[in-house]
Amino acid sequence: MCGIVGYLGRKEAFSILIEALKKLEYRGYDSAGVAIWNRGKIEIIRQKGKVDDLKKLASNKDIKGTMGIAHTRWATHGIPSERNAHPHRAGEVVVVHNGIIENYVELKQRLRNEGRRFSSDTDTEVIPHLINSYVEKGHNFVDAVRLAICELKGSYALGIIKEKERVMIAAKKESPLIIGVVDGESIIASDIPAILDITNKVIFLEDNDIAIFNEEGFRIIDTMGNAVERKIHTINWTSAMAQKGGYKHFMLKEIFEQPVAITNTLTGRVKEDKGEIELDNLKLPNLEKIKKIWMVACGTSYHACLIGKYIFESNLRIPVEVDIASEFRYRDPIIGKDNMLILVSQSGETADTIAAMKEGKKRDSFVLSICNVLGSTLARDADGVVFTHAGPEIGVASTKAFTTQITVLFMLMLFMAKKMGIFTTGQLKEKIGELRRIPHKIQEVLNNAKHIEEIARKYMTYKDFLYIGRGINYPSVMEGALKLKEISYIHAEAYAAGEMKHGPIALIDENFPVVVLSPYDITYQKTCSNIEEVLARRGKVLLFTDTSGHEMVERVESVFVMPKTIYELEPIISAIPLQLLAYYIANLLGTDVDQPRNLAKSVTVE
Ligand code: G6P
Repeated sequence: MCGIVGYLGRKEAFSILIEALKKLEYRGYDSAGVAIWNRGKIEIIRQKGKVDDLKKLASNKDIKGTMGIAHTRWATHGIPSERNAHPHRAGEVVVVHNGIIENYVELKQRLRNEGRRFSSDTDTEVIPHLINSYVEKGHNFVDAVRLAICELKGSYALGIIKEKERVMIAAKKESPLIIGVVDGESIIASDIPAILDITNKVIFLEDNDIAIFNEEGFRIIDTMGNAVERKIHTINWTSAMAQKGGYKHFMLKEIFEQPVAITNTLTGRVKEDKGEIELDNLKLPNLEKIKKIWMVACGTSYHACLIGKYIFESNLRIPVEVDIASEFRYRDPIIGKDNMLILVSQSGETADTIAAMKEGKKRDSFVLSICNVLGSTLARDADGVVFTHAGPEIGVASTKAFTTQITVLFMLMLFMAKKMGIFTTGQLKEKIGELRRIPHKIQEVLNNAKHIEEIARKYMTYKDFLYIGRGINYPSVMEGALKLKEISYIHAEAYAAGEMKHGPIALIDENFPVVVLSPYDITYQKTCSNIEEVLARRGKVLLFTDTSGHEMVERVESVFVMPKTIYELEPIISAIPLQLLAYYIANLLGTDVDQPRNLAKSVTVE
């Protein structure tokens, strides 16, 4: 997804902007560009490709200047190309934009009728034209921006500069934008990692904020021109935490960070001695009145919700309906004030999940979000929020966000169960105790990562994989298959093991490896029968079981043994070897693991 950065200060802007853009590469993009202001003139370079290509292109030019804006673009309107890459210019005004302008067709027509000429296929280009039209009518720069954005429908995070004036303007609606607070310098960015080398003091701009930067510092106004105050937050992530830390890829680093990420998510919240969970002063509505819980999300977070359904229903006995955020509101969901809506999102900025939140609020439902990013839209606008303290997740394929989401869902279930008087203190202590042992158990799996690499080497050349599991293992294999296809581009399909004989079994032969996830739980025996069915058709089985699952170990081609845990927590443990399997296959195939083709980390369009 697009990333924007901007700088105004005493240092050369170009290298600062390039470094900041590189920290946003994880968002996924197809082109990049930068505009540098120098003594009243603005020079723009942009092109299709990576930030490093842009740097190379700039090396032949003498780009000097201490103010500028820059952009990584993920195409939505118009193909990836130089002419569609940002920044876009109209007259003196130059703009970078993240988001979508929904009324760009009518604005473009109106501006064209005024004789203005467009040079790209983007929705963005109407923005500099609109601002420039107000400048030409005699409005000052700030008013021109303010009047122009009042006409925009849709979402935007904007960085804007103008020739002749040493002023940078940022504006935000429904797309993330932050200010890094530093003395004598100003920096704006789409996300925290971009500014961490410069400062850990951050302001999260809110919708309709306009920030104006000059030599003296900055001020924030609303779209009516009234001054607004925003709080400065201190971010505890170091820049090094957002870097690869010696691992070949962010994804591998993030897989190995899971014991720490889960420990951080539990810290200060689980009181094993008292059998209690404390969740950041979370105030829930009267649970006796909650007739149904909805869990809504996208991608990997959606799989966490599917697991959440098992965790909640089996313990709380409240029905849970899970939906994909992009489907939820189009089916006129039956949701109201006796329902709770739980939205799960790593970024807190996924457009469809935000739209689902609005739908839930409109229908008076209590909206709770589970997010990883502080200050994100879902974290700010929900009625309650519980953070996964996974730290920055840079790899596009989600790993530690997923396992910390399940951790939070489990804690939330215990928190609610306590309120509802479902468990005895002894039962609560037991469950909390097992939760606290999870980071050690993950570490055991990670210590055997080499074994999974060997398995990966054996199967890396196959073109299709089937993943099967039963019960709570079914969403786990959906996530495992998603990981493989996302980063290795190998076709992988997940099926509930019992459904295999209703279709996929027709595909099974010696060229179709079947990944079976079957810890020794209530579903184990039944899944053994499915393994038999695969073996009878000369299928190759890669079995992921636990220390009690002995039955099929001798009969299948490859086995990985995981530590044992309770049923509801099995998905956290089994996520690790499935993530590693996908990672090692992709790495052996040499794909771009951290930024797989066509994928974006944060999907801010619907
Ligand atoms: C994109 C990412 C996935 C992520 C999904 C939902 O597709 O590539 O890794 O699971 O968005 O994102 P969210 O930030 O809402 O969890």
